[in-house]
Amino acid sequence: MCGKDGKLVEMKALILVGGYGTRLRPLTLSRPKPLVEFANKPMLLHQMEALVEAGVTQVVLAVSYHAEEMERELKEQASRLGARLVFSHETEPLGTAGPLALARDILSSETNEPFFVLNSDIICDFPFKELYSFHKSHGKEGTIVVTRVEEPSKYGVVVYQSDGCIQNFIEKPQEFVSNKINAGMYILNPSVLKRIQVRPTSIEKEVFPYMAQEGQLYAMELQGFWMDVGQPKDFLTGMSFYLTSLRHKLPSELYAGPGTVGNVLVDTTARIGSDCRIGPNVTIGPGVVIEDGVCIKRSTILSGAVVRSHAWLDQCIIGWRSVVGRWVRMENTTVLGEDVIVKDELYINGGQVLPHKSIATSVPDPQIIM
Ligand code: GDD
Ligand code: MG
Repeated sequence: MCGKDGKLVEMKALILVGGYGTRLRPLTLSRPKPLVEFANKPMLLHQMEALVEAGVTQVVLAVSYHAEEMERELKEQASRLGARLVFSHETEPLGTAGPLALARDILSSETNEPFFVLNSDIICDFPFKELYSFHKSHGKEGTIVVTRVEEPSKYGVVVYQSDGCIQNFIEKPQEFVSNKINAGMYILNPSVLKRIQVRPTSIEKEVFPYMAQEGQLYAMELQGFWMDVGQPKDFLTGMSFYLTSLRHKLPSELYAGPGTVGNVLVDTTARIGSDCRIGPNVTIGPGVVIEDGVCIKRSTILSGAVVRSHAWLDQCIIGWRSVVGRWVRMENTTVLGEDVIVKDELYINGGQVLPHKSIATSVPDPQIIM
């Protein structure tokens, strides 16, 4: 990234990776949420690649659990990308602001350069270069990316002027204020760190509202799609948005084999039988086997899974190494954990199946199967 004087600037980013990811169970019983493959790539890797592409050279992962597995997998990926990856461990969960104070020494620098902050469960066409330029142009302490949603009550709502200056930030409001929400991406000056202590603190409730009052917080509107993919239904919706975006940006990445409908992503090591109908909005991971006559729509099949002949799947996430039997029909946001077996000819109408279970009877109503 080039600064105003054209000099190369060392950019840093912090990704918030705490929390237990309970809303993405049963997948998160086997893998931490940021490592769950979204469109055949761990969520965190989508973000890290975009950060490095924008010129970030050091990424801090603020973690509060499952750190060992993440360290192993992501250190390798980071060195491939040419970025330094630092883990900042919390001994107790510090919320969404406390982790910034904990990483104060890394985030502040002599050059006083701003740093990026990201929630780990959001996907979009990451606008980091534009965010940096816009932030430099208004010169205030912070800029957050905002997007528009239908149902704003489960997000942080942002009220701002036409120049972007934020007047009010309200986290998860009970009453309708606006449908412009915090997309979970920020760029902040190191001076913001003076506002935060190393204790459990919410940036949304205890930092942003005060910055807004002082006219120190700006909003930049996001172009294109956005989704918080921390819940199964949103995960599948986000995946279809992502594939549509891929169709415009990199159509050669999409699968075009026989029986494909719409946007489909298939790992090169997956095998697809004859007379299948795959799509729209399907991703198929490494080593997956799809037998003959299978129909799959709006679903994600994670690595090593097997879908036997004539199965019919709509809006499903099939966990790693799970086996879906012949003539099975599964729909309505059904999520199979890792290594689940669904016997032949069953009907599953939504719900979650915990890892290593074997299902031998149909499930007519959505439920959690332990
Ligand atoms: N390190 C660390 N420690 N990270 C944490 C902790 C913690 O104690 N608690 C939460 N996080 C991380 C989560 O892993 C996630 O990446 C991010 O902080 C936000 O937490 P969520 O639990 O996903 O919050 P949310 O989705 O309800 O709301 C947030 O995201 C919305 C956009 O998706 C808020 O930032 C909203 O304002 C925003 O609109
Ligand atoms: Mg979230």
